[in-house]
Amino acid sequence: MTTIAPHGGTLIQQYEPDYDTQGITQEIELDSFALSDLELIGIGGFSPLTGFMGKADYESVVSDMRLADGTVWSIPITLPISETAANTLEIGTRAKLTFNNEVYGVIDITEVYEPNKWKEAKQVYRTDDQAHPGVKKLFERPDYYAAGPITLTKRLQRDRFQAYYLDPKETRAHFEKQGWKKVVGFQTRNPVHRAHEYIQKSALEIVDGLFLNPLVGDTKADDIPADVRMESYEVLLSKYYPRNRVFLAVFPAAMRYAGPREAIFHALVRKNYGCTHFIVGRDHAGVGDYYGTYDAQVIFQQFSEEDLEITPLFFEHSFYCKACGNMASTKTCPHDKKSHVILSGTKVREMLTNGITPPPEFSRKEVVEVLIRGMQQQASV
Ligand code: ADX
Repeated sequence: MTTIAPHGGTLIQQYEPDYDTQGITQEIELDSFALSDLELIGIGGFSPLTGFMGKADYESVVSDMRLADGTVWSIPITLPISETAANTLEIGTRAKLTFNNEVYGVIDITEVYEPNKWKEAKQVYRTDDQAHPGVKKLFERPDYYAAGPITLTKRLQRDRFQAYYLDPKETRAHFEKQGWKKVVGFQTRNPVHRAHEYIQKSALEIVDGLFLNPLVGDTKADDIPADVRMESYEVLLSKYYPRNRVFLAVFPAAMRYAGPREAIFHALVRKNYGCTHFIVGRDHAGVGDYYGTYDAQVIFQQFSEEDLEITPLFFEHSFYCKACGNMASTKTCPHDKKSHVILSGTKVREMLTNGITPPPEFSRKEVVEVLIRGMQQQASV
């Protein structure tokens, strides 16, 4: 095995489809956010986590970005439950984890505790403003956390893009089969525009393979839906990327919009999927004006190479420059802003919804066609 070791050393495998949940009477109803966390713990995406965090790990992660044993971890992975559930669930027993009346897993309840959500917001999101989508979600969810190791007993069935749902052990096997020693991971919650393509291909120049790993769990309502994005990735890869150097599989996590902290989390999780390198560009996982353009790069200075093991590759703000006549960045282009083709996400969404084509310097025409069709279909539903 030549692939990079998972975070913490062992790839956690807690999926047991034959697990008999019949005799378990206690039940915790999951929201879609917790369901996705359950799956990612079970398949090892969140290694070394074996369950939802107990108080010691939670508090240590919130304050110091480390689990209680010192391992780096920047985002709390918790199971919110109501006050009534907190008063009735018995510590030391087992509960079924359900979603839409189906059992997806079980938890051995080791603890129930009340978190300090204000502190969690301030530390993890750097704001307690409830207009921030991650903070809003944090406060909307129930006020107590249940903790303990889990077993994943059932996988969600997805329709059209099921083939792209690959577990860390499968992506690792793929990289190994390809003979890729250096693999760069790319996180995105957006279509791949020219700036994304530019930084991906710049990174690919110095590694063996690119792992395009779009996040497809919960995102905020105005982000482009995952199925539309998936179609756009397929079209783009088939026309503009070398087949034997790129691998597309989805990251079934919920988006937190926690900027710098989420960049660390995204990197560690991609290490579990087998990446040796990870791209961090401008305002990674950011939203609105909550984070500085390069805060998600600066945060990496707080950790040593041994802490993370995966190598971050940082990219400056990239764009097409009309004066250069090519893609460039603030690092490589000497020209004034008026030569740069830069569009905000909001502006692009507005254009697409109205059937207006963003310029080819911003996005490939094949991608735009898929997006316009997708957005219009969505608007007509
Ligand atoms: S994210 O929330 O998933 O980070 P997005 O899909 O926009 O959002 O970004 C994916 C990755 O590309 C992130 O690492 C981000 O920093 C980077 N990125 C996006 N746009 C640019 C750009 N114009 N220049 C440089 N990096 C960018």
